[in-house]
Amino acid sequence: MREGRIIKVSGPLVVAEGLIGAKMYDLVRVGRERLMGEIIELRGETASIQVYEETVGLGPGDPVFDTEEPLSVELGPGLLQSIYDGVQRPLEVIRDKVGNFITRGVEAPGLDREKKWDFEPRVSKGDEVSPGDIIGAVQETAVTEHRIMVPPGIEGTVEEIYSGFFTVEEPVAIVKSKDGKRHTLTMLQRWPVRKPRPCKVKLAPFKPLTTGQRVVDTFFPIAKGGTACVPGPFGSGKTVIQHQFARWSDAQIIVFVGCGERGNEMTEVLIDFPELIDPYSGRPLMERTVLIANTSNMPVAAREASIYTGITIGEYFRDMGYDVALQADSTSRWAEALREISGRLEEMPGEEGYPAYLGSRAAAFYERAGKVVCLGKGNREGSLTAIGSVSPPGGDLSEPVTQATLRVVKVFWGLVDWLAYQRHFPSIDWLISYSLYLDKAQESWSEEIAPDFKDLRTEAMSILQREAELKEIVRLVGIEALSMHERIVMETAKSIREDFLQQNAYHELDTFTSLKKQYLMLKLIMTFHKYALEAVERDKPLQEIITAPVREKITRAKYVDENKLESFEDIEKEIKSELMVSSVVGGAEHA
Ligand SMILES: Nc1ncnc2c1ncn2[C@@H]1O[C@H](COP(=O)(O)OP(=O)(O)O)[C@@H](O)[C@H]1O
Ligand SMILES: [Mg+2]
Repeated sequence: MREGRIIKVSGPLVVAEGLIGAKMYDLVRVGRERLMGEIIELRGETASIQVYEETVGLGPGDPVFDTEEPLSVELGPGLLQSIYDGVQRPLEVIRDKVGNFITRGVEAPGLDREKKWDFEPRVSKGDEVSPGDIIGAVQETAVTEHRIMVPPGIEGTVEEIYSGFFTVEEPVAIVKSKDGKRHTLTMLQRWPVRKPRPCKVKLAPFKPLTTGQRVVDTFFPIAKGGTACVPGPFGSGKTVIQHQFARWSDAQIIVFVGCGERGNEMTEVLIDFPELIDPYSGRPLMERTVLIANTSNMPVAAREASIYTGITIGEYFRDMGYDVALQADSTSRWAEALREISGRLEEMPGEEGYPAYLGSRAAAFYERAGKVVCLGKGNREGSLTAIGSVSPPGGDLSEPVTQATLRVVKVFWGLVDWLAYQRHFPSIDWLISYSLYLDKAQESWSEEIAPDFKDLRTEAMSILQREAELKEIVRLVGIEALSMHERIVMETAKSIREDFLQQNAYHELDTFTSLKKQYLMLKLIMTFHKYALEAVERDKPLQEIITAPVREKITRAKYVDENKLESFEDIEKEIKSELMVSSVVGGAEHA
């Protein structure tokens, strides 16, 4: 191991000299305690190192050792249900070793070295294998099969394949390559976090990821393998919506990267997540989840690394052929870490002090999401969806982190404080948000849900837009200025907002809505709209239309049990009958 000497310490940044032959992004061990660090700048023999642990007590002259390997994660059985820090150290193991505070220089491997897994082979002696081929599988949790793949770079004939209980370091197969070299395969792979894992081809994402959140699925859908950004000021609901995605998305694997905003926020996640029940299996959600937690007392550099640790784990599960969804909350903390380190490197600051490469780093991160054909036989497909929240100071969307993110992602859900103040949650502003996957999602709805779903959504959206214009008129000249027709538009818009878009994450029945039910709910509102307009034509008094008893049922439609969707038909009939009949009073007036 090459050894250098510290010449300067500046917060999380350490400058060392004498590391001859060191490479960018080499993992180094700093000081006598051997703290973890990474080379992020090299000038001749002088290396700038970001250190993932507190640097107090380090000083000039202390040794630095180059491991000559890049910062990597361990991939294999044991990832699921784990809670890691930003550099994949299991928080529990660390806590057991040293108590509640992460003490420095603690070595804890990402994967348990003692646990034995029941490895079931899927290839035979003599088979030809190449990278990505599945050689066996482990039932890692009750809900997830962990597929063991030939790592990139290894190709040849299976000379030995074993069956039974093994630790992640014990051999499960021996592969002999053409040049006669024997490779011992274990269930453990290592992969450098800053390098995307290879795949055969990237495909355009086309299938919607159903999240059970109505404003998302119906209005601004995200695709499996897509990218999205949730910017919003403090308290607007970013963390709640990210949790909802983790909980309800129809992805098989969830990777949640939490960068604490408030001191206790991650503590909540650490307590909440292990208690969540997976709605699809009835088992603990953690059985298909990997959690990466940066509490605010952890050093900035670990935060910088955490999103890469997370996305590498996500790619690895995608390689097995799974649909993976990654939530990063909030990426502003990552960008701030980048800014702090850049400042210490005395780089030329860009906008608001962020380095000029903020945009390219954000792009490189989101580009690792996608739908792919995985390496290996069988052309299995997998997807990795990346959803990042951003916390723009004061909710100002023109700030650099939001802008850099919006340039790369395909979906924008703009959370706004004026809706949050009104307790309209999720506080997604329907007038500023967009999804570039809408067309694809609509194609899939018309096949799987109903041919008119698309038209209902289009019509509902135009009513919401019309409402914004009409509100302006009302503000200037009063409600009397509106025609009866326009008054109905206002009523319907209100119904779309309150009965459809608003969704309470904490209500047992409202927290999740299937796509089918979303369609039925929207159909009710739009049916009411249609008949209300007709009734107006027939001179039915406005007051009677808007106070029709069935409206209460439309309002309560969100609480209809997913197993009792047939009741929507009855409500629809009631709408028709209540609005079709001319009332006695109305009739009398016109007589
Ligand atoms: N979908 C929702 N349903 C009900 N309440 C919500 C919802 N979204 C947000 N809230 C409320 O808003 C509060 C703040 O949300 P949070 O996600 O912590 O905001 P942020 O992460 O943007 O600071 C929550 O504690 C909750 O009371
Ligand atoms: Mg939050």
